[in-house]
Amino acid sequence: MEVQGVRMKEGEDETSYAKNSLMQKNIILASRKMVKQAILDLYCTTFPEKLNIVDLGCSTGPNALLAISEIMDIVDQKRHELGYNPVQFQCFLNDLLWNDFNTVFKALPGFHKKRLEKDPKGSPSFVVGVPGSFYGRLFPDKSLDFIVSSSSLHWLSQVPCGLESGVKNHLNRGKISISKTSSSRVFSCYSEQFQRDFSAFITSRSKEIVIGGRMVLSLFGRKAANPTEEENCYPLDCLANALMDMASEGLVEEERIDSYNIPFYAPWSGEVMNVIHEDGTFAVDRLEIVEVEVVTIKSGCDDVMKGHQWAKNLRAVMEPMLADHFGREIMDDLFCRAGNHFNEFFSRRNPKGTCIVVSLVRKG
Ligand SMILES: C[S@@+](CC[C@H](N)C(=O)[O-])C[C@H]1O[C@@H](n2cnc3c(N)ncnc32)[C@H](O)[C@@H]1O
Repeated sequence: MEVQGVRMKEGEDETSYAKNSLMQKNIILASRKMVKQAILDLYCTTFPEKLNIVDLGCSTGPNALLAISEIMDIVDQKRHELGYNPVQFQCFLNDLLWNDFNTVFKALPGFHKKRLEKDPKGSPSFVVGVPGSFYGRLFPDKSLDFIVSSSSLHWLSQVPCGLESGVKNHLNRGKISISKTSSSRVFSCYSEQFQRDFSAFITSRSKEIVIGGRMVLSLFGRKAANPTEEENCYPLDCLANALMDMASEGLVEEERIDSYNIPFYAPWSGEVMNVIHEDGTFAVDRLEIVEVEVVTIKSGCDDVMKGHQWAKNLRAVMEPMLADHFGREIMDDLFCRAGNHFNEFFSRRNPKGTCIVVSLVRKG
């Protein structure tokens, strides 16, 4: 069962993902070094005339074209240095069926124009959208050279088995994801779902990528095997606390919160490595844990802004999903309260996010 709920806020207004995805941009930039090394290794081994590249979970807004544009720039810079011919890039942008691809496609003429202005002798690129879940097959056998995916693989294909809203005995009362106080059963449900999904992802990509092809994945993760440390749980705990505040005032039914779990899981690097090793078709070139600023605030703004800024970012990612379950009418109130909870957290801790970046090579 695919979760139709996972979708970013469409369009380009002030509350859209397009206008509130700076943190995800920071994650793309944080994985830049590994992407550069991987694409240069690939290019300088075979000097291909064509490269098929894909961004899995591209979403919408400026980030959707950022990852592929960085890859093309790196290759072009290298081939200019070497005096080689342009490479023809076939760029695939993948996301779920209900993603706002229209906003991405509308940006394409400007994207091509900017590339041409920057480098009139740049390589040509042909961009197409590929709607569908990356937990299944999307491309023919051995048709891809380079795969990237940023800030997407922490989204599970479904609410973990045992935690779905129809299940009678709610295992995670008052919470909407793994929290500091969740039981080990809740943790296993999430962890097992991640392993099933990530394994399906790796198996599919293994068939689609050429031998020697490269894949760089970045996703939210954890440094420690223990998932219930405060740093890992605070974003969704703050959101759950805001919902519980509203329940205590009779604005939300508590049962609605008890029966709700978000299909989000930030794995430990060991879990990621286990799946890759078990599949056996990819060699791990590098794995890094990087800390990313979750809130980028202009200098001069005080800390009170931080919590509300972070709530705005989270709203662009979570509102469509939460509105389906709790109703659109409570969203302003909910995210305002969540902002207050974030402020309280940020007064004690530095708001950083932990990401796993892993660079893989398809074995022969
Ligand atoms: C937070 S956004 C990140 C988007 C973009 N890569 C960026 O860096 O800004 C996560 C994206 O992953 C997509 N996604 C989640 N699960 C997916 C799946 N199973 N298949 C394809 N895309 C998926 C979501 O729809 C969403 O657009």
